[in-house]
Amino acid sequence: MLIRQAPDIRSSEITPERLYRNRRQFIQGASGVVAGALVGGAMLGRYGGLLRAQESIDNLKQSPLSTDEEPNSYEDITTYNNFYEFGLDKGDPARYSHEMSIDPWSVRVEGEMNKPAADVALDDLLRPHTLEERIYRLRCVEAWSMVVPWVGFPLGDLIKRFEPTSKAKFVKFETLHRPSEMRGQRGRSLEWPYVEGLRMDEAMHPLAILAVGMYGKTLLNQQGAPLRLVVPWKYGFKSIKSIVKMEFVEEQPRNSWNVAIPNEYGFYSNVNPEVDHPRWSQASERRIGSFFRMRTAMFNGYADQVAGLYDGMDLAQNY
Ligand code: MTE
Repeated sequence: MLIRQAPDIRSSEITPERLYRNRRQFIQGASGVVAGALVGGAMLGRYGGLLRAQESIDNLKQSPLSTDEEPNSYEDITTYNNFYEFGLDKGDPARYSHEMSIDPWSVRVEGEMNKPAADVALDDLLRPHTLEERIYRLRCVEAWSMVVPWVGFPLGDLIKRFEPTSKAKFVKFETLHRPSEMRGQRGRSLEWPYVEGLRMDEAMHPLAILAVGMYGKTLLNQQGAPLRLVVPWKYGFKSIKSIVKMEFVEEQPRNSWNVAIPNEYGFYSNVNPEVDHPRWSQASERRIGSFFRMRTAMFNGYADQVAGLYDGMDLAQNY
């Protein structure tokens, strides 16, 4: 994750929020025309349609939990990615992730819960939830960041549906493991499948979302289609992509980067400008598309909302 220099992307490529809002209005207006033409079909297809790449998602509620920062451009967000299943270069996910097929898609839910374990089809997983737009800054451990207008819903709302028992102390997530379509998995850059985890109270926090889209459209494969986690107060590697399994467990799971380099990547991975990575400072970050560095904020700017989760913990020990 750490090896490469960020290519310089011109700041003119950043989409100012004003333009983005105009574009959203345009998309909404245009889809109104399409819905009119298709009559009821567009409405019926609203959730089922999420499976289809690059479909517009309409009538999104704007979340008050969004940052007011300007989102990065669509191009930045979809061409500068970390998704080691497709290679180590930032361009590899955009280059090769079309080789992954995401339809049909289901998520296996199991572990310490009252509901029986099940493979839940994506549509059934999404149907009860209202999608909203959440603009979050994703702060990568490599000291760059990006602002992304995600489309998703709170992870906690999904977890509640499965009624985890009191034994469920953590939620463990796994990414698809399919080396025939994910060329990076034919090598050993990480142990596969990619695994991440959250403590149950972190997972239930209203800021943690499952994303199915961004910029008002369904996710592209390189972003972790059709379903990925976004945890805005933690370094980007917690935001696991293309999730096929969720498990409620008693023991703290070993997450992939902790398995790979334990002295550099811990379980918590909270954004913390005061605790340096062993090989570089975490005090500042470079917004992709900008030349200048900016100071990194504690918990990526969400200290008021999440610091209480870690009361009494030594955050240098629990990195
Ligand atoms: N999920 C999987 N399955 N594989 C990965 O390599 N990379 C992580 C995270 N999720 C990764 C993953 C890292 S290091 C980051 S910074 C973010 O995805 C990047 O998300 P983005 O490409 O959408 O910006």
